[in-house]
Amino acid sequence: MSVSFHESNGVFRLDTPNATYMISLVDEERFLAHLYFGRRIPDDLPREMLRIPEEDYPSRKGRERLAFLDGLPTEYPGHGLGDMKQSCLEVETPEGYRCCGLTYRDHRIFGGKPKLPGLPATYGGPEDCDTLEIIAEDKVLGLTVRLFYTAFRKIDAICRSVRVENTTGRPLRLRTALSACLDMDDQGQYDLLTLHGNWSAERMINRRPVTMGKQGVSSRRGISSHQEQPFLGLLERTATQTRGQVYGMNLVYSGNFLGQAELTQQGQLRLVLGIHPEDFCWHLEAGEAFQTPEAVLTYSCTGISGMTHAFHDLYRNHLIRGPYKNKPRPSLVNNWEATYFRFDTEKILAIGREAAAAGIEMLVLDDGWFGKRDDDCSGLGDWVVNEGKLPGGLKHLVEELNRMGLRFGLWVEPEMVSPDSDLYRAHPDYALQIPGRVPTESRQQLVLDISRKEVRDHVYAMIHKVLSSANVEYVKWDMNRALTDVYSPALGPDRQGELYHRYVLGVYELQERLLTDFPNLLLENCCSGGGRFDPGMLYYSPQIWTSDNTEAIDRLRIQEGTSLIYPLSSMGAHVAACPSHTNNRTTPFATRGRVALPGCFGYELDMTKLTPEEKALIPGQLEEYRKYGPVFHNGDYYRLASFGENHACDVIMAVSKDKRVAVINYVEVENRARCRALRVELAGLEETALYRSSLTGEVRSGAGWMYAGMLLPRLEWDYSSALIVLEAVAQ
Ligand code: GLA
Repeated sequence: MSVSFHESNGVFRLDTPNATYMISLVDEERFLAHLYFGRRIPDDLPREMLRIPEEDYPSRKGRERLAFLDGLPTEYPGHGLGDMKQSCLEVETPEGYRCCGLTYRDHRIFGGKPKLPGLPATYGGPEDCDTLEIIAEDKVLGLTVRLFYTAFRKIDAICRSVRVENTTGRPLRLRTALSACLDMDDQGQYDLLTLHGNWSAERMINRRPVTMGKQGVSSRRGISSHQEQPFLGLLERTATQTRGQVYGMNLVYSGNFLGQAELTQQGQLRLVLGIHPEDFCWHLEAGEAFQTPEAVLTYSCTGISGMTHAFHDLYRNHLIRGPYKNKPRPSLVNNWEATYFRFDTEKILAIGREAAAAGIEMLVLDDGWFGKRDDDCSGLGDWVVNEGKLPGGLKHLVEELNRMGLRFGLWVEPEMVSPDSDLYRAHPDYALQIPGRVPTESRQQLVLDISRKEVRDHVYAMIHKVLSSANVEYVKWDMNRALTDVYSPALGPDRQGELYHRYVLGVYELQERLLTDFPNLLLENCCSGGGRFDPGMLYYSPQIWTSDNTEAIDRLRIQEGTSLIYPLSSMGAHVAACPSHTNNRTTPFATRGRVALPGCFGYELDMTKLTPEEKALIPGQLEEYRKYGPVFHNGDYYRLASFGENHACDVIMAVSKDKRVAVINYVEVENRARCRALRVELAGLEETALYRSSLTGEVRSGAGWMYAGMLLPRLEWDYSSALIVLEAVAQ
């Protein structure tokens, strides 16, 4: 068991391979204090770290309670009773006050991990993980709060969530219900690592010292967003890719979130993560419960790469589901940048013929196949095939493509409606909008009120019909704007604060329905590119479209930030035409292939317009994907050099889990005069095994490659690239 309770001293202990997490019961009142999270330690107790005597300032009436509660590192802080830092739980009583505080009542320890009702979450059986459920209470309110902690046996990850049960006998309003809190000391030794971005520049890495006060990330866009990620990394200031302690926190959720680090004058550091309390208020009738999303906590004593491996292993094995969990993802061609809205059956078949001849496995038909949709001004919501463009419907098109040996995928955007659509004309009330106020359009579209079952049912029935009309093996589920005008007539005035979360629950319900009805489907999520790239979405779709920016050099940084947390197998990555539609840059076709290679590989260009030289490169690119895609997708990923940091070159490496094959993917972005060959220290190899380099034929030990390093070839041109393979040789 990786979870235990030490009765005599009231300490819970969770162990993962390299980390220990401890919770201590304090005092007769049995406060739940956070004792330790860090490198694995033996069975002794660092109780001194609670600093109880320091905070226990005596007053004339005994202990100074406020100072004590404000100083105590707390597992799940309530509100308004002495702990002055960020609250995780705030409940409003019928009288209107919001104070609450938790103490221990009981606990359970069991193998495996329970599902979270209606929410995506990591999973595992008793052979994978153990769960601690602490039943806490606010005795005055009569409120019950269950704190769940699951420790994974082979991965340095602890997954936490909270269920608030209204056992008070009266209605309550839940004002704040975050998923996790992590209190620790910071005497100036930590950096904060977060991801920030924009459309076409998602997940740019930002590292800076933790400073006084509150800092962090958040979204109030109704989606996890392009702008910020539900992720906090905390690094020892000296931590590098391979050295030092690194903590990670990631929320398995696709809507509004708050991730915050707060440093006090006294060096107390509190990290919190959960649904953003602003715009959130959940009405809990007596007897009802609220389940928070799950927060994943990782610990690494081997630098940033250790954190990355924990997230990758956890998400690949215990979050992603379905038939493609362990299967190679098909190479594909997507017609979006090839044709935009201007296509018909003939054009798609022409692209298909070229794709099939080159050996590509699937064709994905993007936006524009339905309703009146010749640009992005109309048609969303009318999920009926436009037979003007596709005579004979999807069935005919797909049969033709299948006959060529191509599988077929389809784009949909179920959560949206164009004001110029039959759906909107028939049901204007289906869109989120506020009576008397012109709703804010974005990309000429409005958001459907997916919190309502009748709206979900209506849209789903249309999409189900289309998907059943042909052999559709892949769906790209898009979502192209943030939520505004968030009001639903279906909810009463006192329940509007539930709408953002109910919307996300509605999306999850729809995607679960889709996967249940089409169990062999490969689902890819998308949100104007990478606006909803989060673990919540990964529970439904093993891959996500990384960014609308398909330009290879910009992609280096986008993919670097994404792969910090998310497995390479989850990143949609395509070779696009040049000059790039995003930034006009022209790069070699070979380099575009190399940049897309580690992800879910495909092409996003008009195959009929390729030059003979470009066409000739495709079979080789597909062969690289077939051979080395699985090493990137299933192996251990290392970042050896970052273009974002050095502004010259980008080098990544992946090592198969059995350590027999390693691939090094190298892009020389800027060729610098008289520059010496770059030396990189390889990582993840077996020290004593011998590996042959595909570049020079040299055979050296893993230790030799890792510690003496490898000199990367000088490539001579801007935007050149190389793939170097190391294979273990028999000894
Ligand atoms: C979004 C997606 C693109 C494409 C278009 C279609 O922007 O990210 O890949 O599907 O929508 O409208």
